[in-house]
Amino acid sequence: MAPSVAEISSNALNSITNGVQKVDLRETKKDVKGAAYPFYYPHFDVSEKFPPTEIFEHVDPGSRADPAKPHLLTSAVKIHDVSPYIGTEIKGVQISQLSKEGLDELALYAAERKVLLFRDQDFKDLTPEKQIEITKYFGPIQVHPTSGNAKGFPEFHVVYRGPERDVFKEYYGANRSSKVYWHSDVSYEKQPPGTTFFFILEQPPSGGDTLFLSQVEAYNRLSPEFQKRLEGLTAVHSAVPQAESSAKRGGPVRREPVETTHPVVRRHPVTGEKALYVNQGFTKYIVGFKDEESEYLLNFLYNHIAKGSDFQIRATYEPGTVVVWDNRLTAHSATSDYNSSDDRRHAVRLTPQAEVPIPA
Ligand SMILES: [Fe+2]
Repeated sequence: MAPSVAEISSNALNSITNGVQKVDLRETKKDVKGAAYPFYYPHFDVSEKFPPTEIFEHVDPGSRADPAKPHLLTSAVKIHDVSPYIGTEIKGVQISQLSKEGLDELALYAAERKVLLFRDQDFKDLTPEKQIEITKYFGPIQVHPTSGNAKGFPEFHVVYRGPERDVFKEYYGANRSSKVYWHSDVSYEKQPPGTTFFFILEQPPSGGDTLFLSQVEAYNRLSPEFQKRLEGLTAVHSAVPQAESSAKRGGPVRREPVETTHPVVRRHPVTGEKALYVNQGFTKYIVGFKDEESEYLLNFLYNHIAKGSDFQIRATYEPGTVVVWDNRLTAHSATSDYNSSDDRRHAVRLTPQAEVPIPA
């Protein structure tokens, strides 16, 4: 197993050698603020700019998978469904060791179970190049327009909250009674993420779970008549508020913010399941509706999914946990229930993009 970045002294070793290319770690000791994985300390460079994303053809790896999943779910693997509709905990398999067939099966299983909690992974201690190589098997990695990344590796979306840096206080949490904020990641992209990876580096003694819900079950709970009304509708998802908020704080806007129209109900390219595809984070309005009608319908749907505790789970973290979710079929929220004055939570997301959403 490769040494963790945290274990490498800046004097002792200047490069990791088992990746695709060498990484110079000399600079990672700057601004470490006590983080165990300083390489992933959130890095912001306002001069970093990227061109608009281009449309690409996406063939979902899950479409190649053997439904029996013999390469992923071997006899050594133990699985436990967290709830009937969403979430499975998996022990006894290393994502880093999976063959292409195993990765195909992982994509299918993530679509079927919506969220997979892989325990005891070596993933956080792989080289950054290897982490990217594995996850880009599922699609081109989204480069986030505003969030902290790792210096020289814009593919990493860093989530960090700790004693010296609390985004909930700095950004949007200060005056809210609850920090729960359901969203689907970067749904404003023309080709929003599919199979999404999130690995924990440091966590508080308790708390800091991620809430997930199944947008498939949220859709299934609606009456056939209501489902019919939703199908065919489209909604605009916007990156503008996120970009404006970053610019106001003096943060980066790496790409011009986009506004994209997506179906309100989308169909998964492999399983064919239908899922609601609106979220409080990025959906702005229903196309063709008057403002009041759009607000009325969206608020109904947001309330419907938010109170659906019987199709939600809490994803818990242990050292080495990698959570994989299908971002097309789920919404999620961070929880902010731990004391960031004392405890740090540090995690990294790799976000492969998938197909242009398929209308139901
Ligand atoms: Fe998110």
